[in-house]
Amino acid sequence: MLELHGITSGYGAFTALWDVSIRVEKGEAVAVVGPNGAGKTTLMRVISGLLPARSGQLVFEGRDLSGEKAYDVVAHGIAHVPEGRRIFPALTVGENLKMGAFIPAARTHYRESLERVYTLFPALAESSRCSRWAVPSCRGPSSSSSTSHQWAWPP
Ligand SMILES: Nc1ncnc2c1ncn2[C@@H]1O[C@H](COP(=O)(O)OP(=O)(O)OP(=O)(O)O)[C@@H](O)[C@H]1O
Ligand SMILES: [Mg+2]
Repeated sequence: MLELHGITSGYGAFTALWDVSIRVEKGEAVAVVGPNGAGKTTLMRVISGLLPARSGQLVFEGRDLSGEKAYDVVAHGIAHVPEGRRIFPALTVGENLKMGAFIPAARTHYRESLERVYTLFPALAESSRCSRWAVPSCRGPSSSSSTSHQWAWPP
């Protein structure tokens, strides 16, 4: 389903990945394990199109996505969930979830997807009812702050 062939990438003159090849089949979960700085996040950035590969090939479901931008890669069904609570802090929990259905293909079954997420994580359903303004019971873990955007963090 997902194939990487000889991917090399990095930042400026610095090379972080050399000749990385991976094959992931449908339904398979593959973990990339390594020490800090090994290049795990860099690899994810290349797969999602956030960082260009200098060489190599990225194939998803038989289609060559090498060189495609992140906004095109996501439309093919590859989503990157960033580490470290990298959500949209100015949006509510509900609005953040809606961003996951930004692409047209996801919008058509947004309601079902949302129900699935709320079943898996009921606390999100509660938080989604909150606006980002002045609902004290809706404050997340950063509730000591009075800035509106922090109320949007999911618990
Ligand atoms: N934005 C950047 N600019 C320049 N170098 C970077 C950048 N991001 C990462 N690097 C470097 O690229 C290499 C790989 O980093 P990367 O973040 O991919 O590692 P990682 O395996 O995800 O590490 P960690 O386990 O700490 O998350 C490291 O040497 C790192 O310093
Ligand atoms: Mg990382």
